[in-house]
Amino acid sequence: MAKTVGFAVVGLGVGHAHVKGALEAEGCKLVALCDIRPQTLDRILEKHPGAASAKFYTDYTEMLKNPEIDVVSICTPSGMHSDMVIEALRAGKHVLCEKPMDITVDKILAIEEVRKETGLKVGGVFQNRRNAVMEPTKKAVEEGRLGEIYTGLFRVNWYRSDEYFLHNDGWRGTWALDGGGSLMNQGVHTVDLMQWLLGEVKSVRSIMRIVNHKIETEDFTNSIITFKSGAVVNLISTTSAYPGYGTDIQLTGTDGSIHIDGDRLTVWRIKGDNMKEEEAEMLQKYGAAGVVPASDHTVVRGHSFHVQDIVDAVRFDREPMIGPVEATKAVRIINAVYESARTGKEVVFD
Ligand SMILES: NC(=O)c1ccc[n+]([C@@H]2O[C@H](COP(=O)([O-])OP(=O)(O)OC[C@H]3O[C@@H](n4cnc5c(N)ncnc54)[C@H](O)[C@@H]3O)[C@@H](O)[C@H]2O)c1
Repeated sequence: MAKTVGFAVVGLGVGHAHVKGALEAEGCKLVALCDIRPQTLDRILEKHPGAASAKFYTDYTEMLKNPEIDVVSICTPSGMHSDMVIEALRAGKHVLCEKPMDITVDKILAIEEVRKETGLKVGGVFQNRRNAVMEPTKKAVEEGRLGEIYTGLFRVNWYRSDEYFLHNDGWRGTWALDGGGSLMNQGVHTVDLMQWLLGEVKSVRSIMRIVNHKIETEDFTNSIITFKSGAVVNLISTTSAYPGYGTDIQLTGTDGSIHIDGDRLTVWRIKGDNMKEEEAEMLQKYGAAGVVPASDHTVVRGHSFHVQDIVDAVRFDREPMIGPVEATKAVRIINAVYESARTGKEVVFD
């Protein structure tokens, strides 16, 4: 029988969703928690009393000495990720790392080098790929059912308060630790879905602004993304859309269209004899499914999938769903958006 995997979580903000995942995952035992702020433990224990048996540390390096730990889940500010992932790998631990895996492609590729050298597992988090409606959407795109997808819209239309950016010494909205604003932090999931659905990017043309926050980074980007397939798509991100809306994904093809709001399907119209019946059936299944609004940052979903994925990767010696190279794709596009906005020039990919 496969062994039980000892699991640790560092960074107890969104880390609470990883704690929940570890307590529920099959073949997993939560053995350690770490945060430089000891008060974060109270909130964890209030939400997840089962975490009481895990050993709590305020020093990450100290925690990594614990031989009971097989996997470390890294949930600290984004710009710290690669250093902490590499330290864990060097200590012989497998890693699950929150999105973005780090804020530059080079930093993520440095993880990939150590992953290859050590032979340990490294998984990233892009839980929106697991939203129910994404499976049939990806399948319809892959089967070419929409014909030529020549345009589309990917829009993250969210709101974040000033307090949100002041939280925990104000790391959010800084270039050094957040790597960007509405696109790198909030929009990275949608950029990942965009490239996952539409493939390789050819070029990026963008503008960005700080609309309504006292932060270093943008809170609004607007880009034209051209894909190698020929599709030309609008990518928009903001955290200033008071009081906060959802994430729109619209795929427009010569044989059909799919529109998604949050993870709720709103349009599924694909050429065929039973177009109307198919749409009715799809809307029934994936329409107003009572999903939570994506603009509520206190709600996190889908992390349990990634916790089980890394646990199974370790137990059954397979690769996790999102490896470092896969995790670079969205980060490369986002940094191209920033470069184009700064220079006023189109960024052309290799
Ligand atoms: N997948 C998602 O949907 C999702 C949602 C929210 C956040 N995130 C990602 O998770 C990461 C954390 O975001 P957050 O919103 O939870 O931030 P947060 O500020 O609420 O929590 C981060 C925690 O890390 C702790 N920390 C900082 N440095 C540390 C260190 N050296 N050692 C131990 N603990 C340390 C802080 O004290 C804090 O409690 C970011 O990379 C963010 O992009 C992902």
